[in-house]
Amino acid sequence: MEEFIVTEKLTKTYGDVTAIDALDLKVHAGEIYGFLGPNGAGKTTTIRVLTTLTKPTSGRALVNGFDVVKEPDEVKKMIGVVQQHVSLDRDLSVRENLEFRARLHHLGSAERKKRIDELLDYVGLTEEADRIVDDLSGGMKKRAMIIGSLLHRPKVLFLDEPTVGLDAQTRRRLWDSIRRLHLDGTTIFLTTHYIEEAEALCQRVGIIHRGRLIDLGKPLELRQRLGLVTVETLVDNKETRYQYFADREAATSYVQNLPSDAKTIIIRDSNLEDVFVELTGRKVGDD
Ligand SMILES: Nc1ncnc2c1ncn2[C@@H]1O[C@H](COP(=O)(O)OP(=O)(O)O)[C@@H](O)[C@H]1O
Ligand SMILES: [Mg+2]
Repeated sequence: MEEFIVTEKLTKTYGDVTAIDALDLKVHAGEIYGFLGPNGAGKTTTIRVLTTLTKPTSGRALVNGFDVVKEPDEVKKMIGVVQQHVSLDRDLSVRENLEFRARLHHLGSAERKKRIDELLDYVGLTEEADRIVDDLSGGMKKRAMIIGSLLHRPKVLFLDEPTVGLDAQTRRRLWDSIRRLHLDGTTIFLTTHYIEEAEALCQRVGIIHRGRLIDLGKPLELRQRLGLVTVETLVDNKETRYQYFADREAATSYVQNLPSDAKTIIIRDSNLEDVFVELTGRKVGDD
């Protein structure tokens, strides 16, 4: 498997705060790699280091073999990044924003027009091209930002919490755009604190907590390690106990043998939230 991004003991501290702590990552060429973790876990810092926006304190990171500290220009040619907050000029139209970016990438005038039209069509924004950014919905703004990051045909796209604040339908639409990029061969590194997003989109998920990678695998593997089936039992009428089983049969047999005063709330599929809670004792949504 070709590794597109490799980090070795990558660390970034801000004063006393260790934002990322000796991260060893390997992102395969062509995969959608998800970085799942709660607020403050170190997701944005990781993206900032990998995209050369900030320097690591120690350790190193390579993108397609280029060192982010020693060869930032080579790295920049290869990457696109969609930051969490709107990074478009709100007073300009979508097309004006994209024109401006395309010039920064030194695309010639004819090529600019062709590439922008092609990408507007790709993410379904052709009709919106001449609208002012401020008047667009959150999902449209995000799609416009994605186009802005694709003008120079990057081999890897970094998406920092791409669907925060979007409604469910818009989120799915954006997932489709991301899947389409993946099918066209782009390597995708995305961060999220949404369990469903990691499960729905990512081939592999790295779980990050307090700057450290605490687990890594395909969503199914992570759930299998825990047990694919969860039984939630109400204990003493106040506390829910979670137990994990390899399959429904094992779960059912456990439930049948519970003392008669135990209250079984639910038997369900385990999810990555369960994995996270078992690893950290916290929920992904907790601060
Ligand atoms: N520029 C900065 N200065 C000081 N502390 C920072 C800075 N950026 C991030 N941090 C701290 O580093 C930790 C990780 O932050 P961040 O990478 O933004 O996490 P996430 O994106 O997972 O929410 C947090 O404790 C945050 O407060
Ligand atoms: Mg962040």
